[in-house]
Amino acid sequence: MSSEKESKNLAVVNCSQLVTLAGPARPRTGAELRELGIIANGGMFVRDGLIERVGSRDEVETLIDSETEVVDALGRLVLPGFVDAHTHPVFGGTRVDEFEERSKGATYEEIAARGGGIQSTVNATRATYEEVLTYECWRYADWFLRSGTTTIEAKSGYGLSLEDELKILRIIKRLGSETSLRYVPTFLGAHSIPAEFRSRRDDYVALLIEEMLPAVAAEKLAEFCDVFCEQRVFTTDEAWKILSAARCHGMGLRIHADQLSLSGGAQLAAELGTVTADHLEHTDAAGIAALKEAGVQPVLLPGSVYALGSSRYPAAREMIDAGLAVVLATDFNPGSSPTPSIPMILSLASTHMKMTPAEGITAVTINAAYSLNRGAQLGSLERGKIADFVIHDCSDYRDLAYFFGLEHPSSVYVHGKIIG
Ligand code: NIG
Ligand code: FE
Repeated sequence: MSSEKESKNLAVVNCSQLVTLAGPARPRTGAELRELGIIANGGMFVRDGLIERVGSRDEVETLIDSETEVVDALGRLVLPGFVDAHTHPVFGGTRVDEFEERSKGATYEEIAARGGGIQSTVNATRATYEEVLTYECWRYADWFLRSGTTTIEAKSGYGLSLEDELKILRIIKRLGSETSLRYVPTFLGAHSIPAEFRSRRDDYVALLIEEMLPAVAAEKLAEFCDVFCEQRVFTTDEAWKILSAARCHGMGLRIHADQLSLSGGAQLAAELGTVTADHLEHTDAAGIAALKEAGVQPVLLPGSVYALGSSRYPAAREMIDAGLAVVLATDFNPGSSPTPSIPMILSLASTHMKMTPAEGITAVTINAAYSLNRGAQLGSLERGKIADFVIHDCSDYRDLAYFFGLEHPSSVYVHGKIIG
């Protein structure tokens, strides 16, 4: 897919449903998640890559002149590009061997304990030259775009040394300028304790705080910092130290919390006032209440629950009913969630988490954009916003979650320009 992000004027007409997500300029909570701002037989006018007008087909057609390219949606569905707020898209190799082992009964934790898991991807990532790794990850950018995703949050975390984490973050920066996908970079040096530090974990935490974070901040390579907070990974005390240091460098905070056990991650997120707390499969009612009180956005990742063969999905219903501004994301990574597909996540959310199709769409558009500090530019089709939008080959927004296992987009536009 090409890399230009500019365009001339466009008029998009003949949409069965123009799903605008128009609404208050903040993340949506409670019943607001079900309000999609749908315009039946709607249209949209785009000038210089920005949305100028959203309305009925007739209103938009009055703006068409000889300089305008008319896009006939042919009675199909138009949505904002999906915003995937949790991905790990830069890694060497795959973990297809582990996938096969798990298909025979091995567990994710057993494989990690014997040196596989994240460490095996760290080994492969370190061993891959920057140019080669960039080329491999370019392919994943195409996968996201083809599924209708136009922005991703992109974590480092498979380098786990100063040099290799910088290599990954520079690749993310380069992909952001050379592909059509938008990247929001996150430093996840605290993804695992690398093998060479296993017997001296304090030294790795010191390396993160004293060398890696300052270097990442000096090169302005990350907007956010994340920590995998879990028993046998980073404790809540360690996560507190790392995230507090990141805050001093001006980074926003995210945290992998309560994924494999109830380990205090949600409480820590609330205490620190992180922007998001991600996973939350084991979070209890007290954790949900703490997140609500602190205004932390949950980022739920049903792809990893599904791919690990678990049935322990996060308590999305309780979170929505408690007033949390829920986000859904893929967690695209080679170990626990090898999918770039937001439509697959929408299917899982409705089938296993009892989120309605409308709630799912809000969670992968406007709420996700706010969780990345992009709510003013992305995530809805409203005047002044960037024209990242997708024509899906169906006519009803509920089809996106209902028909699963296929790619719905027929055309993807970034900054008003078609990606082909
Ligand atoms: O979000 N939880 C930690 N990180 C990833 C898994 C990464 C891997 O297995 O490589 C996750 O699920
Ligand atoms: Fe993750």
